[in-house]
Amino acid sequence: MTLEIPRPSEGDIVDLILTDHRLFEDLLRELRDVTSDRRRVVATMAELLVAHGEAEESKVYPSLEKKDAIDDDEVEHGAKEHDEGYQTLLPLLESAAVDTEEFSDAIHEFSETLLHHLDEEERDILNPARTDVGDDDRARLGAAWATERNRLLDEGCGSVDDVRRLVREAEERS
Ligand SMILES: [Fe+2]
Ligand SMILES: [Fe+2]
Repeated sequence: MTLEIPRPSEGDIVDLILTDHRLFEDLLRELRDVTSDRRRVVATMAELLVAHGEAEESKVYPSLEKKDAIDDDEVEHGAKEHDEGYQTLLPLLESAAVDTEEFSDAIHEFSETLLHHLDEEERDILNPARTDVGDDDRARLGAAWATERNRLLDEGCGSVDDVRRLVREAEERS
């Protein structure tokens, strides 16, 4: 697969997020494959995970809460699952070897954590966005999220240091 991250600038927020979720699933499959360039896959995963999730937290979750589509429990829960994603991704970024049993176990942990979040977000956050938010607002949210996601990607948001900082901030909050 190509490890180029697509950068749309507009669209329906639900469609845009789902397109990334499929990309996460493809990247996980690529990561499990011992013949792939695992280091590059991990680096791409880190960029996409941070840009996608941080843009959701700053541009999507608060607006959906303001529109009463979701409540603050869902916002907090989503953010907590993003933190768990960073925590389980970090060992993959820090690992010296990518062909060990340990690395394989770390992929499993990360994969379980990420797939769990995609499932919950699609059911508990994207569904109310589909049913309780109008087309125009979903397009406005899509543009705001895409712009922020692209800004983060331009910054190179998924370095080991970035993910370490996100993990540290998560630990300070808990
Ligand atoms: Fe998402
Ligand atoms: Fe998310």
